[in-house]
Amino acid sequence: MDPAMPKWFQNAVIYEIYPQSFKDSNGDGIGDLPGIIEKLDYIASLGVNAIWINPCFDSPFFDAGYDVRDYYKVAERYGTNDDLKRLIAEAKKRGIRILLDLVAGHTSIEHPWFKASASGEKTIYDDYFCWTQGMRANQGSYKFVSGMAPRNGFFMINFFFAQPALNYGFSDPDPACPWQQSMDQPGPRLVREELRNIMKFYLDMGCAGFRVDMAASLVKGPTKESRQRGLCDLWGDYKAWMRKNYPEAVLVAEWSDPASSIPAGFDADFFLDWGYCEPGYRELFRFPKYEEDEEHKSVHSGNCFFCKHSSGNSRDFVDSFQKHYDAVKDMGYISVVTGNHDKFRIRRGKSLDELRLAYFAIFTLPGVPVLYMGDEIGMRYVDGLGNVEGAYHRSGSRTPMQWAAGPKAGFSTAAPEKFYLPLDPFRDRPTVAQQEPDDGSLLNLTRRLIALRRKHPALSGNGAYRVVESEYKDAPWIFTRSADGETFLIALNPGPKACRRKLALPETFEVAEQEGQVAFSTKSGYSEMEIAAHSGVILRYAE
Ligand code: GLC
Ligand code: CA
Repeated sequence: MDPAMPKWFQNAVIYEIYPQSFKDSNGDGIGDLPGIIEKLDYIASLGVNAIWINPCFDSPFFDAGYDVRDYYKVAERYGTNDDLKRLIAEAKKRGIRILLDLVAGHTSIEHPWFKASASGEKTIYDDYFCWTQGMRANQGSYKFVSGMAPRNGFFMINFFFAQPALNYGFSDPDPACPWQQSMDQPGPRLVREELRNIMKFYLDMGCAGFRVDMAASLVKGPTKESRQRGLCDLWGDYKAWMRKNYPEAVLVAEWSDPASSIPAGFDADFFLDWGYCEPGYRELFRFPKYEEDEEHKSVHSGNCFFCKHSSGNSRDFVDSFQKHYDAVKDMGYISVVTGNHDKFRIRRGKSLDELRLAYFAIFTLPGVPVLYMGDEIGMRYVDGLGNVEGAYHRSGSRTPMQWAAGPKAGFSTAAPEKFYLPLDPFRDRPTVAQQEPDDGSLLNLTRRLIALRRKHPALSGNGAYRVVESEYKDAPWIFTRSADGETFLIALNPGPKACRRKLALPETFEVAEQEGQVAFSTKSGYSEMEIAAHSGVILRYAE
């Protein structure tokens, strides 16, 4: 690993908090920063060493805060900048660092820079955004909004209409489109400095770095290669500056293409299907008996690998993961997530039990795993909630954290109708309080897996990863992790058929964690392992 990689990140496990829904401290039905502070002991008890909080800055909330109106101010609903400082300090006491969500690619239409640039008056913000000149512009595949502002042009957006794209420039501007500016023109240079100032503000406050929203969207350009050049220039520059001035801080990309994002300057990137990663995540952890979403309806129809009726395969994931792993293993980390605020929850279409072997994998793969709040107790995806603050189908993964039994689930003192989103309506909704005392609960399994990972260098970010076996449409998936003469062998057979495998195991080994039934026998020099259906094991041995 790069010797400049911060030590703490090398065995990091991140807990993602959607702040609206974690813990409400003042009874308005919306989670807030003092609420997170209240729950820090709980978060520490999970064994994680970092928290990533979705954007908590001033915003009109057209996209749940991913439309920032003031980068320097905590949104009123979440508290004050002083609360954020307190959170950073209190987390630090417990060995936990705070990563903020940097919405780098776009602002809100209510941001003063945008308002000035849209006014039609000449201001220094004219080139902070990508404006065409007049009505007839060659727009290519970019998304524009027109007819909204006095300025004589259309503005480019990154996501919703209310998220105008900041102008970091084009890697190869098209001469036929004079509105495309190169990255070294004054507008893009100013924007680049603005982002650095924002980062500086929070790094000086003590935050440990950023999860960067839509990190690949900042530089526009005609081809992936061309954009990559520009993105390497931009992120490489920020990275060098951060390493020099804040050597403990890290950059985590929302890019979903580690082989591109890590060389560009990021320390970690998520492995998710919907970026540029090949399919794989979904085959492993999602689409059981239902379609993931409209877009992918026709693509997959089977059950995912980690379902009891698994007809999925581990192969697509394993192959794609290997490719990215080989490309980045000396430079940075792949983050495999249990879920996030955008994806259907991992619990969807699965029983609590079916999550257990999936977590064996997530918390033993190399890199930096991310646990999405509530996944440690197996919270459900809640259907039919409609579009709250631009969430659309994502609302179902953003419902309030279930701390305890009762109509308010310990989330808030407000009446449940006032909650940011309704609670999981099922009577048997899982809660922290119910799982806490039960050694066999998903919560306590998650804790054990995280503790095991963080205790053993072989299982942490850097430990070598080697696939022993992975088959198409047939379990098991077996891989090893090793470092400093210690090896872990992870064998996963989530499907309905028992299997037997010959393995080169040493004479003595220890079962670190097991689900279901696994039996070992030694015959003339080799070991045989029999893994029953729905079973798996994590073995530990010295080399
Ligand atoms: C990222 C965020 C998502 C948001 C979008 C636009 O994908 O995770 O929640 O809507 O960017 O900022
Ligand atoms: Ca509140």
